[in-house]
Amino acid sequence: MKQEPPPPSQHHRKRLMVSALQKFGKTIAYFVLLLLTYYLGYLSAASSTSNKPTLISRIPVETIPAPTFRSSTTSSAAPVVDHNIFSIQCIDPVISEKVRQAVLDRVFHGKSPWQNFPPAHVSTLLRQNRIKGWGSTGAVFENLIRRVRPETIIEVGTFLGASALHMAKLTRQLGLKTQILCVDDFRGWPGFLEKFRDMKMVNGDVLLMYQFMQNVVYANATESILFMPFSTASALDKLCEWGVSAELIEVDAGHDFHSAWTDINKAYKILRPGGVIFGHDYFTSADNKGVRRAVNMFARLNNLRVQLDGQHWVINSK
Ligand SMILES: C[S@@+](CC[C@H](N)C(=O)[O-])C[C@H]1O[C@@H](n2cnc3c(N)ncnc32)[C@H](O)[C@@H]1O
Ligand SMILES: *[C@@H]1O[C@H](CO)[C@@H](O)[C@H](O)[C@H]1NC(C)=O
Repeated sequence: MKQEPPPPSQHHRKRLMVSALQKFGKTIAYFVLLLLTYYLGYLSAASSTSNKPTLISRIPVETIPAPTFRSSTTSSAAPVVDHNIFSIQCIDPVISEKVRQAVLDRVFHGKSPWQNFPPAHVSTLLRQNRIKGWGSTGAVFENLIRRVRPETIIEVGTFLGASALHMAKLTRQLGLKTQILCVDDFRGWPGFLEKFRDMKMVNGDVLLMYQFMQNVVYANATESILFMPFSTASALDKLCEWGVSAELIEVDAGHDFHSAWTDINKAYKILRPGGVIFGHDYFTSADNKGVRRAVNMFARLNNLRVQLDGQHWVINSK
């Protein structure tokens, strides 16, 4: 049988209590000190930025003073402005009628990628129509297209084209001659084929761009849809450099905070005044609310208001 340890004597118990109290007191003091340091750091950081311009993305980099870090204890509360600088300058926008040609010239050597599609080596590997989207036909699309009546739409994150084709259908129904420009690297994400086992892979290539193209051909939408098969960051910068802009921009590519933050900032630069930028998954929690944090922070820094429409966030430009 196991022996119970003897109960601690009265004296011993007292000593234990005193030492626990001492430890507790020390911890409290430590926390108070920590809080005080943080608060002081915060105050000095806040006062040092109060006469600086608001950090909106349209401010050229030269006008933003470099951040000053006082000491290692306060640096965590100091402003980290570098994250908010998207310094590329857009040229004056080309007219809507020239948008398609501008992209054809610069991305496709002036030749339509729809010509002679599909190429022989993939034609047998594609499905006639293989669509899968997420909230891609939500009411937000019709609400915004009816309100904005866009001549150009830029979609950041297209996948198989579900939302792009839905928008093409809507603009057609409304009698609009809208160009929809789809930005996607057409890589999907690592491992996405696990859920798309019917899609073929050729020497490591997932044929996502070709299947998207096939879906557009099937829907007779090649006249209204064009695409840029590159990373969203580089494509959006180039559009800005080329003067390609849009009245309606949908952001639905990477959903982690940093991807969403970059995409929203870069996309907003090519949004026409009076336009609308919107995106999916404001309520996503799988990635620690990455999209929501990015959208809220963007709106706060730019003094804009976030509206909700179903699963989508919507921001009207100034
Ligand atoms: C959720 S899907 C888009 C779904 C589509 N909007 C719909 O509703 O059907 C996200 C897409 O973003 C693309 N994507 C993610 N990160 C990207 C990046 N950094 N550059 C280019 N494309 C990216 C992926 O390839 C994927 O096709
Ligand atoms: C595309 O056009 C063809 C030929 O005009 C027509 O038969 C077909 O129904 C159209 N498809 C769609 C999805 O509109």
